[in-house]
Amino acid sequence: MKKRTIDPAIEIDIEALQIHHNGLLEWIKEVAALCMPKNIYLCNGTKSEYNELCNKLVEKGTFIKLDEKKWPNSYACFSDKSDVARVEDKTYICSRKKEDAGPTNNWMEPSEMKGILGDLLEGSMMGRTMYVIPYSMGPVGSGISKIGIQISDSEYVVANMHIMTRVGTIVLEALGMKGEFIKCIHSSGAPLLEGEEDSTWPCNPTTKYIVHYPEERSIVSYGSGYGGNALLGKKCFALRIASVMGKEEGWLAEHMLILGVENPKGEKTYVAAAFPSACGKTNFAMLVPPKEMNGWKVSTIGDDIAWIKPGDDGYLYAINPEFGYFGVAPGTNEKTNPNAMKTMHSNSIFTNVGVTPDGDIWWEGLTKEPPADIVNWKGVKHDPKSGELVAHPNSRFTAPASQCPVIDSDWENPKGVRISALVFGGRRATTVPLVYQAFNWNFGVYLASTMGSETTAAAFGEQGKVRRDPFAMLPFCGYHMADYFNHWLQMGRNMPNAPRIFSVNWFRKDKDGNFLWPGFKDNMRVLKWIVERANGNSLAVESPIGWVPRYRDMDWTGLDFNRPQFREIMEVDREAWKAELLSHEELFARMYDKLPKEFIFMRELMLSSLWRSPEHWGLQSEVGA
Ligand code: GTP
Ligand code: SPV
Ligand code: MN
Repeated sequence: MKKRTIDPAIEIDIEALQIHHNGLLEWIKEVAALCMPKNIYLCNGTKSEYNELCNKLVEKGTFIKLDEKKWPNSYACFSDKSDVARVEDKTYICSRKKEDAGPTNNWMEPSEMKGILGDLLEGSMMGRTMYVIPYSMGPVGSGISKIGIQISDSEYVVANMHIMTRVGTIVLEALGMKGEFIKCIHSSGAPLLEGEEDSTWPCNPTTKYIVHYPEERSIVSYGSGYGGNALLGKKCFALRIASVMGKEEGWLAEHMLILGVENPKGEKTYVAAAFPSACGKTNFAMLVPPKEMNGWKVSTIGDDIAWIKPGDDGYLYAINPEFGYFGVAPGTNEKTNPNAMKTMHSNSIFTNVGVTPDGDIWWEGLTKEPPADIVNWKGVKHDPKSGELVAHPNSRFTAPASQCPVIDSDWENPKGVRISALVFGGRRATTVPLVYQAFNWNFGVYLASTMGSETTAAAFGEQGKVRRDPFAMLPFCGYHMADYFNHWLQMGRNMPNAPRIFSVNWFRKDKDGNFLWPGFKDNMRVLKWIVERANGNSLAVESPIGWVPRYRDMDWTGLDFNRPQFREIMEVDREAWKAELLSHEELFARMYDKLPKEFIFMRELMLSSLWRSPEHWGLQSEVGA
């Protein structure tokens, strides 16, 4: 960053902020000198502060207050059309050495990047308030939690941070006079000059940078106001920077939901699951079991991020470092996710959904038909004949986690919850069966590393194309992906009570393109088998790729799903799997210099068992039995 002293023309009384942490104070002065805001505001995290921010956003025309009866204390807003999702091509890991960022991350030499950002940040907050947001990822003061300080010139960001993280004075108190914190700078990249009219969504439509300095543990985000680009506690800190910390300190920062499953005897088992963006984590985390599965209950710990650490007893323990949910709106309704509907019923923010003149909202999949007078996410009255969408496919709700009706009683337990199973899943129209269990930890790491998924609106790239998304972490790993695989293998070597590892695929389709699996609440049937497997209580047979349930090993009460259907969704097609295993080569070749040698052997082993006749696979002979 450029070294400047504060411009005497800017009259900001920084001392009045009453910050007793010298490092923090110096940094705030430095950023203020560079960005030249009109004034500085230190967030205290109170409800009244939140309400004032929302009122200000309503005044500016950014927020639309929703109907108080239908959606109490909630707001909708439309982003700029250029600013609707994360920008993976503008996301950088600026480690000192290129090989530490690895082949799957964008990299630039840190001082070169600082030069670019210094120029961009200079004067970038002119005419705006610079907010200083002290926040904690994880319960304030707990040993597992970490503190970040985000500077931002966006009220929208501050309001969302209030919901998504624990914000305020209590965090500064926990930080003390010498505590460590992650420096996070966010500028919308839209200085407001004297007499200029503000936009309802300040951003820089042409220049965006999301930059991480892993050694310095700092983050700079420029030009975007949207979700994962701008709420820096989430992807930037809790995944990219935290993954580097985890590698150094022996733990894991993962793109995983965490849920609890209670069986009819009242025994609880916790599961963490990694699915790529917009592939069903929120739905799965809040699953409501079919009513026929009497006595089975699911409770939610988190829906997007897990920090996982080995305990003294040799088990893994996980916390959700977040405080709210930033969930995909389209497709969410009373049937697919009733708990999410209740969670977002009040005190929530809706970004890029449709809005009616009387303060109601709508998105594709909420109900069959949109309300007659709905305004779409582009702010234009929806024309049903146009074929256009009302809500952007990546439109989102921001809602407090504590409002989830099935929030787990241990969701803020600083020790975390003991994880018995890890689940990995992507969107795969073909090839990958409904569920299988890896033979052991190493095969599990292999399956997670080679996971593929068809791209969605939340991710950059061509829609619907299968891309390898190892551990659903491709956009979120802050270091070399092959070092990350090795870290996972190493964790297994040191862990006496490692969780069992599973693959799931809710998205397999028939030849006509219809989903083979009902999904949503019926995913409980798969979850039940997984939990019982992890506890040593359910049976399976061997297939070339892992352990699989037979028809009779799963609970079908209340669902009309017959043996031929099961056979079809569980099929491990020899030719398709040969092609699948061979296609892993593409990923391996990209990171050959650091690829774990185990991967080469495991792939050979699986290929060799595929060469046997399918009649000899336990799977093909017994899966329908
Ligand atoms: P991020 O917040 O982007 O990390 O993603 P997420 O994994 O939390 O996404 P979310 O749960 O909101 O995924 C939403 C998408 O998954 C919607 O398109 C849903 O319709 C779809 N989805 C969720 N569960 C199922 C399922 O069981 N079957 C099918 N077919 N689709 C599902
Ligand atoms: C994702 O894309 O995986 C998200 C949404 O969870 S965002 O926070 O915008 O990255
Ligand atoms: Mn996510």
